[in-house]
Amino acid sequence: MAKQIIIEKVFKVFGKQPQAAIDLAYKGVSKEDILAQTGSSVGVFDVSLTIEPGEIFVVMGLSGSGKSTLVRMLNLLIEPTSGRILVDGVDINKLKDSKLRDLRRKDISMVFQSFALMPHMTVLDNTALGLELAGMSRKQRHAQAETALEQVGLSAWGASYPDELSGGMQQRVGLARALASDPSILLMDEAFSALDPIIRTEMQSELLRFQTVKRRTIIFISHDLDEAMRIGDRVAIMKDGVVVQVGTPDEILRNPADDYVRSFVRGVDASAVFKAGDIARKSQIIVSENAQKGARAALKMLEEQDRQFAFVVSPAQQYMGVVSVDSLRAALEGHVGPLGLSLAYLPDVEPIAMDTVVNDLYGQVAQCPYPVPVVALDGRFHGAISKTILLKFLDRDTPAVPAN
Ligand SMILES: Nc1ncnc2c1ncn2[C@@H]1O[C@H](COP(=O)(O)OP(=O)(O)O)[C@@H](O)[C@H]1O
Ligand SMILES: [Mg+2]
Repeated sequence: MAKQIIIEKVFKVFGKQPQAAIDLAYKGVSKEDILAQTGSSVGVFDVSLTIEPGEIFVVMGLSGSGKSTLVRMLNLLIEPTSGRILVDGVDINKLKDSKLRDLRRKDISMVFQSFALMPHMTVLDNTALGLELAGMSRKQRHAQAETALEQVGLSAWGASYPDELSGGMQQRVGLARALASDPSILLMDEAFSALDPIIRTEMQSELLRFQTVKRRTIIFISHDLDEAMRIGDRVAIMKDGVVVQVGTPDEILRNPADDYVRSFVRGVDASAVFKAGDIARKSQIIVSENAQKGARAALKMLEEQDRQFAFVVSPAQQYMGVVSVDSLRAALEGHVGPLGLSLAYLPDVEPIAMDTVVNDLYGQVAQCPYPVPVVALDGRFHGAISKTILLKFLDRDTPAVPAN
């Protein structure tokens, strides 16, 4: 079972004068000055977080911001200077040695950026290494290692040796080794950072895939925001030991807390993250489709408001079609009496589904002479995207998305 982690007011100071260092940090003294004055280095400063069972929680930040220190406190590779860490309600600092060993062996596994595969051992034995060190029988550890290799797509390679594997495959063995004990919590410290971009993306997909098979609580450290946005259910951004913002990728892109976060966000490919529903505007003219009348009223409304197009919805808010001043005039030409709007629909208007990523709608928006309607899964009209809206979104100096 995936487990919840609660981090409560946790500090980590390296060095002999933790309290003096913390006092200075509260006064806003910089890390360098604190180190100069006390000889102590503030690694993590007053961090409180709750990580939900089964979520992929990404910790981001520049080098030296405290990410590794934070994650290593979760399995007590580093002991906090103060504060509490609860794993499924249990204060890990109070665990007896044997229980702590159990926690590390069974509940929490760690994957590092680089780890040593033993060249003279098969892939299977390499995968089972942790289990072997824990004293598990050969038969059982091989069975568990095989399951783990299956999960990372390497079941055919158990009998091979590490030097027969590509770099990406070796990294998968590292992941399999962490999965072999079937942990409920996985700590991944820059686990993919050394991989080349294509293999890295592949590994991210792999992680997301095996997360759908069996959910674990995953703390994933990265300094790459694209990676964080892609795999994170939530992301915490660290600076100088402090968590400066926590939120979903969407919340962070939408409302970066400060310039530091903004500087990360600027480099991100927002069009792969945001959906049509995020950028569609509702400020269009909307008219209701009423069986036998409406064309004349709609035309009047457009003329009065000096607008070219209107979106037609049913009484139940279902998207029906688009009409324009010209199409309405043409339909009404020579007609006496009420006329239904449907006779004035512009042809070939395919609405965009709300969950289409912005990357996939350029063509349609560019070709369409009017804003393209965006609909929810159930067909309700959600808004429309004009070329102007799209260009504004792509211009990252203006706010990407209307706050809503
Ligand atoms: N063992 C240590 N002794 C002294 N200072 C340390 C130690 N480990 C980390 N630090 C300091 O703590 C800060 C955070 O480091 P770290 O957690 O490794 O950052 P990150 O993983 O974000 O790059 C850095 O300033 C680093 O110098
Ligand atoms: Mg680190």
